[in-house]
Amino acid sequence: TNIAVFASESGSNFQALHEAIQCGELNARIALVVTDKPHAFVVQRADKAGIPVLAISPKDYPTKAEYEAFITTELKRHEVEWIVLAGYMRLIGPTLLSEFKGQILNIHPSLLPAFPGKDAIGQALSHGVKVTGVTVHYVDEGMDTGPIIAQQAVEVIEGDRELTEKAIHEAEHTLYKNTLNKLFSKSLAKR
Ligand code: GRF
Repeated sequence: TNIAVFASESGSNFQALHEAIQCGELNARIALVVTDKPHAFVVQRADKAGIPVLAISPKDYPTKAEYEAFITTELKRHEVEWIVLAGYMRLIGPTLLSEFKGQILNIHPSLLPAFPGKDAIGQALSHGVKVTGVTVHYVDEGMDTGPIIAQQAVEVIEGDRELTEKAIHEAEHTLYKNTLNKLFSKSLAKR
C-alpha cells in the first residue's frame, strides 16, 4: 500500500511509521513526504530515510485549490493511495478531499471529540483531566472532526508534563501503525 505522510513539524510519527515498515511491522511504503514547512525537521528525517519530499508552501500559490491541485498531481505521480496526516498543521481542502475520498487519515493527541485543534495536550492538562489519549480518524472538512477509527487512553502523570507528553507520543506511534495495518489489510481484501 503506497502512502504519503503529510507533516509540518518534527516528524516523530513519520519516523515511527518508517521504522515500522523497515522492520516488517507495517505493510506499506511511504512513497512521498509532503510538507508545507520546507525547514521542518521531518525533511531531514525523510532525506535520511531516502524518501522523496515535496516541500511547498501554500503562500506560493494564488489559491488553496491550486496548491492542493499541485499536491494531487504529485501524489498521483507517486501512485499514492492513502494520505496519512502526522502533525500537518493545515486543514485539508475540498480538492484533496474529493481526490482522496475516504483515504485520508489523521492522528490527534487527545481523546476526540475532546480538545480538537492546536495544543491538544496543553488543553487537556489545563483542563485537569486525569485520562487523555490519542485518536486516529478519517479526515473531513472540519478540524479533527471526521469519523473515529481507533483510540487509546493514556493516564496523566500528575505533576509531570514531560512524562505525560512522552507517553502520549509513544501511544501515537503504536496506535498509528496498528490502525494502518488493519485498514490496509481490509482494503486489500476488498479488491
Ligand atoms: C502529534 O502529536 C500529532 O498528533 C499532532 O502533531 C504532533 C506531531 O508530532 N497532530 P510529530 O511531528 O509527528 O513529531
